[in-house]
Amino acid sequence: EISLFKDIIAHAKEYGFVYPSSEIYDGLQAVYDFGPYGVELKNNLKRLWWESMTRLNDNIVGIDAAIFMHPTTWKASGHVDSFNDPMVDNRDSKKRYRADVLIEEKAAAYEQAGDPVHAKELLSAMGKLMDAENFAALRDLMINEEITCPISGTSNWTEIRQFNLMFSTQVGSVADETSTIYLRPETAQGIFVNFLNVQKTARMKVPFGIAQIGKAFRNEIVARQFIFRMREFEQMEMQYFVRPGTELDWYKAWADTRVKWHKALGIPESKLRRHDHEKLAHYANAALDIEYEFPFGFKEVEGIHSRTDFDLKAHQEYSKKKQQYFDPEVNQNYIPYVIETSIGADRLFLMAFCNAYVEEESQEKQRTYLKFHPAIAPVKAAILPLTKKDGLPEKGKEIFEKLKYDFNIIYEDAASIGKRYTRQDLIGTPFCIAVDHQTLEDNTVTIRDRDTTEQIRVPIDELHARLSEACSF
Ligand code: GAP
Repeated sequence: EISLFKDIIAHAKEYGFVYPSSEIYDGLQAVYDFGPYGVELKNNLKRLWWESMTRLNDNIVGIDAAIFMHPTTWKASGHVDSFNDPMVDNRDSKKRYRADVLIEEKAAAYEQAGDPVHAKELLSAMGKLMDAENFAALRDLMINEEITCPISGTSNWTEIRQFNLMFSTQVGSVADETSTIYLRPETAQGIFVNFLNVQKTARMKVPFGIAQIGKAFRNEIVARQFIFRMREFEQMEMQYFVRPGTELDWYKAWADTRVKWHKALGIPESKLRRHDHEKLAHYANAALDIEYEFPFGFKEVEGIHSRTDFDLKAHQEYSKKKQQYFDPEVNQNYIPYVIETSIGADRLFLMAFCNAYVEEESQEKQRTYLKFHPAIAPVKAAILPLTKKDGLPEKGKEIFEKLKYDFNIIYEDAASIGKRYTRQDLIGTPFCIAVDHQTLEDNTVTIRDRDTTEQIRVPIDELHARLSEACSF
């Protein structure tokens, strides 16, 4: 499975999806750039998310808030004081780790070795010590459990320290304490501070939602697993404002809706699972993760949280501006409760990519292809004239001109047709349209299906409708 993941990472780079950031300088840890096919895939995923939030729901509207926010925002949200991870160093390897991640990995090892009771006990002991911020005892737990550094193999650990994940920088030319501002660690707060602006200007009535896609930044201690955990990433969040007392019904409804959305993308049910949180963050009265089975195990892709009125109340307190809504139906003023759906665009990308990656071994040959749902495939179709002569390129370009306004398509006439099919398989193009001599006679082409490799002959006039149908979500 680990070797499968290595193949996936290599494929993503080799075929123009994801490159390490500033690679010529040996890269920057946990930061990545998206290549020509990667940006198309990511944009398609973001667009689908955006449309299913804002178009399918007439009570959800979008915003695009700034990355920089007034520093008090992060005081009110609790991030300045408690957005921390417990960090520990191994004295022999000089490597830095997240203590809780090392303990979770040990618990997973117990689970795999057929000892789920020990695994559960370990996680529960860790949870209690983390809640009590008893880091000396947390370190003792690591030593008792013989948790060793993967590099040095020793358990020569330093004390555990709290490490705040927010990146900070200075505004203006004078560097003092008052000029410190943060790069947002979540997009959600841009929505909370605009709650009344949006409610009033778009004349929204509770229940209503605000959706946003944007960059977020976290100084992650553990930066592994490719684009799973990044220091600069993109979030797609939707905050749904509801009448107090109705939040758990909305929480359930949104969890179901979001699981359905993942299935519609082509993610099989067997690879998805819901993980209900027993231990809740200070602001939540219910929370679950939608997890996907990556090659390195089931891991969170999306979080659904019932955040109560925690955030709006905190902003009311810190800003001294009322954050209330007058509900004409019950004739009452209140601070709405919030259900949040929160997914990383990059993590969704990784799920879609892992899910699409197929290494097929048949008797004759081996074939690798990406079986993206056509709605998210970076390129929808490739127009391939069989030869470079006899007017076939001209005919191919004519088809290309007709389709290019509505679909991202490629025209290619170099190399053998077999090589060109292979190349499209590797980037996940669902349809290859071949132009041959018969095309010149009867205006038909062949369409080759990426997944079955079967070909059918269709009139050129039907291409647009067929692509539209296949690429709808
Ligand atoms: N507003 C709630 C919030 O930010 P979260 O569980 O910390 O909740 C939500 O993050 C989602 O954002 C995660 O489920 C994941 O998809 C994505 N995410 C969080 N940290 C990330 C990181 N370092 N790299 C990539 N994606 C990340």
